[in-house]
Amino acid sequence: MAVTIKQVGPCFAGEVDGIDMAKPMTAGEVAAIHAGMDKYAVLVFRNQQHITDEQQLAFTQSLGDIEHAIGTSLRAANEARLPTTFADVSNLDKNDKPYARDDRRRLFAIGNRLWHSDSSFKAIPAKYSLLRAVSIPSKGGNTQFADMRAAYDALDEETKEEVQDMVCEHSQMFSRQIIGFYDFTDEERERFRPVRQCMVRTHPVTGRKSLYLSSHAGGIVGWPMPEARGYLRDLIEHATQREFVYTHKWRIGDLVMWDNRQTMHRARPFPADEPRDMRRTTLAGDGPTAMQIAA
Ligand code: OGA
Ligand code: MN
Repeated sequence: MAVTIKQVGPCFAGEVDGIDMAKPMTAGEVAAIHAGMDKYAVLVFRNQQHITDEQQLAFTQSLGDIEHAIGTSLRAANEARLPTTFADVSNLDKNDKPYARDDRRRLFAIGNRLWHSDSSFKAIPAKYSLLRAVSIPSKGGNTQFADMRAAYDALDEETKEEVQDMVCEHSQMFSRQIIGFYDFTDEERERFRPVRQCMVRTHPVTGRKSLYLSSHAGGIVGWPMPEARGYLRDLIEHATQREFVYTHKWRIGDLVMWDNRQTMHRARPFPADEPRDMRRTTLAGDGPTAMQIAA
């Protein structure tokens, strides 16, 4: 069956038809998916409820090298529900029970409700993320995506010049500070040390520029902190206007794939006592976006 894609978002995001992730991908299908990602930046695959975790992983690996989820959450290794080939984006403990409302691991994960790009807090940030809905709450829990290419295009010339060579510092501690979560251990402070990222990225295939924004960004190199925070806040506000946003309403068996280099996303709230089982595989990025400084 031929792969077809129809646009579902305001200026991006496509829904794909003709892919069954339970089967190995042909070279033609892989090429069609990459071309779709270059164009739409977010792709929605419906009706994949029959696939296993192993098939999600195999599908992901047919597109490139994966990024492992190690040391990025507050879940200890012996509390893991999934292997490190997956980021566990659920609200569930090892026994598939929702975390208590005040559980530290749940509160940290609420940071996903801020606009962000996955792994922007790593020196080599993520390329694509692939998120599959295994179970969903009775209400809420949508995921929103914002097109950072359209957001860049809509900047005035003066701002385009101002951001062109800007470098930001990103850390999961910065995003958590925004939601009032400060109680990091010394080990976590060390693990979440800030990394540097360029503010403007150019897509290697299409040549389109995009804003590389994320709530993990908490400083601009060479700027006083309060001024940087205000500037980043304004830019995120600009970049997430309704005309740039696609809202995904999940059905069980949906898999949504997004390009972290060209988009931001955020989770929307849902009832704390209901399970929401979301499993993410992640494709590794090609390299750093900015030079890192020694600690
Ligand atoms: C993620 C993420 C949002 C959601 O998987 O990286 O931010 O709605 N998910 O769960
Ligand atoms: Mn995310």
